[in-house]
Amino acid sequence: MTNEGGGFDLGRWSAAFAVDDSSQPTPPLDLYGAPDARALYDETYENYRSFVNPPLARVMKLSGSPVEVRALGSTIWDQTGKAYLDFAGGYGVFTLGHSHPRVVAAVREQLERMSLSGKTMFSPLLGRLARALAELAPGDCAISFFANSGTEAVEGALKLSRAATGRTKFVATTNAYHGKTVGALAVSGRDAYKTPFGPLLGDVVHVPYGDAAVLSEALRDAAAFIVEPVQGEGGIVVPPPGYLRAARAACDASGAMLIVDEVQTGLGRCGILFGCDRDGIVPDVLVLAKGLSGGVVPIGAFVTRPSVWNAAYAKAPLVHTSTFGGNPLACAAALAALDVLRDEDLVANARARGEQLLAGVRAIAADFPSVVREARGLGLLVGMELRSEGYAGTIVPEMLRAGVTAAWTLNAQRVIRLEPPLVVTAEEIERGLAAVRGAVATAFAKLGVLAETSTTHT
Ligand SMILES: Cc1ncc(COP(=O)(O)O)c(C=O)c1O
Repeated sequence: MTNEGGGFDLGRWSAAFAVDDSSQPTPPLDLYGAPDARALYDETYENYRSFVNPPLARVMKLSGSPVEVRALGSTIWDQTGKAYLDFAGGYGVFTLGHSHPRVVAAVREQLERMSLSGKTMFSPLLGRLARALAELAPGDCAISFFANSGTEAVEGALKLSRAATGRTKFVATTNAYHGKTVGALAVSGRDAYKTPFGPLLGDVVHVPYGDAAVLSEALRDAAAFIVEPVQGEGGIVVPPPGYLRAARAACDASGAMLIVDEVQTGLGRCGILFGCDRDGIVPDVLVLAKGLSGGVVPIGAFVTRPSVWNAAYAKAPLVHTSTFGGNPLACAAALAALDVLRDEDLVANARARGEQLLAGVRAIAADFPSVVREARGLGLLVGMELRSEGYAGTIVPEMLRAGVTAAWTLNAQRVIRLEPPLVVTAEEIERGLAAVRGAVATAFAKLGVLAETSTTHT
């Protein structure tokens, strides 16, 4: 593979990538029309600093963020041609890795036919995607509504539960993350994200995550209990087995809807198809986004039981709609992504590689107990909890320098998430682990023993 030459042949290059061993094939360096790498960096940074988000631009610069220019599989290339293993994985978006050729081809094909829906006629791919999700989703969850992001899908699920039950109260969990629109924020944790925007939705009660004993009392007269099978942004927190089963029973007893937010955990991330499969339960509403369309076109969805949909919307089919939700490009991407998930047996790969990753991070924790407090996770959703947030500020940039991306979790910044694509190989996991180990060792050498900071933010 060479950097020179004209057109870029994704198929040919993907084939080379698939047989790659230690030598990373480097794609043609694409500088988006800038004269050189430095110019592209300067232009992008200045645009962020002046026109996007000035304080964020400075933080990203300080932490050494380069400019992303191309990506395939588990690898992202920056403006200099340096390759990074993507262990942040778009925070769960890149289940199939970046630009999976089958998903890209399906989107290209649809782009030639029609890209967005005219909205006045039936859309064949929307129908097919809803049917495909009905076949995959637990139990009788068979009706899908499509949105464009996780938070929009959560809003839809919250509205549905109010309309279906005629009740208003929501029960959510401490330190949850469901998105940043007003309704989703109201059921999320972390006050810093919420207080500038109050009053949010009234009638929200937060209960400790993983504690089934408090649910029956809290759920009295509630429209819904919204819960993540594993708290992602809350710091990769895995609840005790049976938690969702107890939640299902408490919802049944109180008449509340059980909304399971699988925006981050769904579709193989946890080494099982859905996180709620761990307890074998059927939610009333299953919320999906991130990996649903294979990381190629944004999408969000909630999938619900016909009885719930009809209780809410049988007589009012247009009270909850979205112009772009379920557009043909997103549906084409999602249909192809679901095929790839099955054909490449990615759920099983997530399970095997997840065990390898967690065992590796646990070994690092054992070797550096004054830096790493705990390693935990399910499948390829792994968290490394540090004893102090101070270490995170060194570890993430050090990993980046070593060619591996990683990220903090939004509600627990001393927990570093490792969330590689489900297509990740055993060799890539070892390379990622080597970067984690090197970064932890550097942080310890530089900072020594720091005082412990609290686990979560308020
Ligand atoms: C569990 C969960 N729900 C909802 C969201 C919000 O999704 P989005 O950022 O697409 O709005 C996220 C995002 O991280 C999430 O992890």
